[in-house]
Amino acid sequence: AAPGAADPDFLLAMGDDLRQGLLPLRVFNNQQIYDAELRRIFARSWVFIGHESELPHPGDYAMRTIGEDPFIFVRGHDGVVRVLLNACRHRGAQVCRTEMGNAKAFTCPFHGWSYRNTGELMGVPVKNEGYRQLDTSKWSLFEAPRVESYCGLVFANLDPAAPSLEESLGDYKWYLDIQFKLSDGGMVVIGEPHRWMVDANWKQGAENFCGDSSHTQMTHRSVLDVGIVDRAAAGSPGKKHGFHVHDCNGYAISIRQVDDTAERFWEYPPEVTQHFNTRRLSEAQLALARRSLVHNGTVFPNFSFLHIGLTDSKDRPAAGYLSVRAWQPRGPGRTEIWNWIMVPKEASEEYKRRAYQVGMSSFGPSGSFEQDDVAVWPGVARSAATVFAEINNVKLNYQMGLGDMGTATPVTGWEGPGVAVQSNAGEGGLRTFHKTWYARMTGQELSAVEAEVGHG
Ligand code: FES
Ligand code: FE
Repeated sequence: AAPGAADPDFLLAMGDDLRQGLLPLRVFNNQQIYDAELRRIFARSWVFIGHESELPHPGDYAMRTIGEDPFIFVRGHDGVVRVLLNACRHRGAQVCRTEMGNAKAFTCPFHGWSYRNTGELMGVPVKNEGYRQLDTSKWSLFEAPRVESYCGLVFANLDPAAPSLEESLGDYKWYLDIQFKLSDGGMVVIGEPHRWMVDANWKQGAENFCGDSSHTQMTHRSVLDVGIVDRAAAGSPGKKHGFHVHDCNGYAISIRQVDDTAERFWEYPPEVTQHFNTRRLSEAQLALARRSLVHNGTVFPNFSFLHIGLTDSKDRPAAGYLSVRAWQPRGPGRTEIWNWIMVPKEASEEYKRRAYQVGMSSFGPSGSFEQDDVAVWPGVARSAATVFAEINNVKLNYQMGLGDMGTATPVTGWEGPGVAVQSNAGEGGLRTFHKTWYARMTGQELSAVEAEVGHG
């Protein structure tokens, strides 16, 4: 059964809507829906915490969240990475108050209880006078019950009974591997994650990264006009080298690529691509990577990635990088966007600096692309909160490419999992995201929802 408040009627009727490619506008700003999401989705899904490369040394830590709950992402003196609830066992104060650092222990600022970087209670003031019988081994910081990693990406799950991370990623790993297993060393985080607030719902960015290709020509027109991005790479509806993959274990990915022979690798230079090989990828995966200009996708609920090559100036060559994102819920109409820049471990320090600069100038908080998106998204949250949307149960159109609406048909012979269509003119990835959301919110198996709503 799905925990949380009683369901609004529109949620229960959503199977019909989704079959027709419709979505109730209210899901983007509704307190009751939001409260249920924190309990049914964020407390029961694998939520991205950070990358192992952010904590190279014992004692390294960073503050992170699951839903709105504060956690400490920390590598203990024993080398083990843990996700600890940032709440003192004495009276609940936050024991870690610095965003990132290195510590042997966390000492609570309230009454001075101190905890080892493994979470164990280490010291209690006036122990001999006031707590002679206290068994400190029973008063460690609470820990996320499940912490698992994939390609160094650490996820936590607050549901002890959840299926494993790998099982949850399922077939979608085929696409994740292409982003994270190109070289022997894999991808590493450069610098610290940037964070900024936007007055939009967390699902806005998450669905966008599932393949909202058609917004590029409109929302990001000014970036295209100044010529710092190749229009072919940016993609436009109907361009023949765009692929959308939807219904892949509840996830989706958008791929833009050149013809079958040119080597692009997201514009990584030869000094980086020389390290790409098939030791961790299949021939088919590496062949897809070789032709690629842009990949973007979302692992439900709020982990997204964007693999792309861009530049910050017409005079300088494009540089490839991987942006990893978390869309952190901060209220029904508020999101904290987190953005990590990653590159292959083997890249030179000089290239890492260059990739970081390009990443920040394009999809960082003041990036040329990013500013466009966050100017548009708050309008959706504003509309979703209107009384008009509520009394009329306003539905949005997610029908692009659905059934007879579009000309794209599934690609035959596609080597990866999921349903692949050779077109950018579709919203199948966004529909996939909302089917998964509907399944989690109503406590149904994804397969049951797919049977009710259909593929596509
Ligand atoms: Fe932490 Fe009292 S609340 S020591
Ligand atoms: Fe955008």
